[in-house]
This record gives sequence, C-alpha cells and structure tokens, in this order.
Amino acid sequence: MALRTIRLQGDPILNKVCREVSELTPRIKTLIEDMAETMYEANGVGLAAPQVGVLRRIVVIDVGDGPITMINPEILETSGEQTGDEGCLSVPGKAGKVTRPNHVKVKFYDAEMELCEIEGTELLARAICHEVEHLDGHLYTEKVEGELHDANIEEEDDQ
Ligand code: NI
Repeated sequence: MALRTIRLQGDPILNKVCREVSELTPRIKTLIEDMAETMYEANGVGLAAPQVGVLRRIVVIDVGDGPITMINPEILETSGEQTGDEGCLSVPGKAGKVTRPNHVKVKFYDAEMELCEIEGTELLARAICHEVEHLDGHLYTEKVEGELHDANIEEEDDQ
C-alpha cells in the first residue's frame, strides 16, 4: 500500500465526472487500498478517487465503524434534513455549514464487487452524499451556507 497525494481545490481533476468501474482489476484493488491508507493518514472520514487524481467511481468512508468501500455508488432514496459543519481533505483547514439529508439509502459494489445496499443516518448519510458528489465533480463548498471558516482541528470531519 502507498499513500497518494490528495488533490486540492483548484485542481481541475476535482471538477470532472468519474467513470464507472466494470471490473476489479489489480490496479483498482491497489487504488482502493491506497485510498483507505491515505484517508486514515489524513484523519478523514471519507475519500473519493478523484481526490487522489483517479477519475473512477470509487469512494472509501469510515465514520468510526470501520471502512466501507463503495464502487459505482448510487443514492436510491433520501429523507429528512441535517445542517452542520462539513470539511473536505481537498479543502484543508476549512469548514462550512451544509444542509444534507439525514437518511440515505445507497447501493454500490463492495471491494469484492458484490452488490450491496445500506442505509445511513447522520454523519454516514452526510459522508455518502459528500463523497458521491465528488464523483460528479462537485465539492461541498458549492453548497456552503454563509462563509467557509477555519476548522477546529479537533472537531474536523474531513471528507
Ligand atoms: Ni471531500
């Protein structure tokens, strides 16, 4: 495994639409392992492939319950609402208030290319929405209510 360089806001790769993954090649497996390592090293709760410069529909998320790999994730349903601070590993040191669904249902292929469906609430719902948007070239900063502010390092949940 290896750490990958996290691309920062302003890098045009973060605004591109990612391609679906059709086959779990050795290269994709290595990418997934590297993404998880890179996310943990940066103390993030989520990381999307374009954040390490790869335009494929893959995200890793860990909100404290262990890593979840999502390949070709698709949000099926959302409900409720939550408003709170959000951060992103591509926008280091900053946070901003974003309103998200409080509950999402998502289907995806896991790291073995098995089809899965899970439901998430609160931080997991927020992380899923944030990461899936990365795959379509969007950053949370487009949705921030008010201004970005300096993040409190101890409270940061960077994605
Ligand atoms: Ni992010």
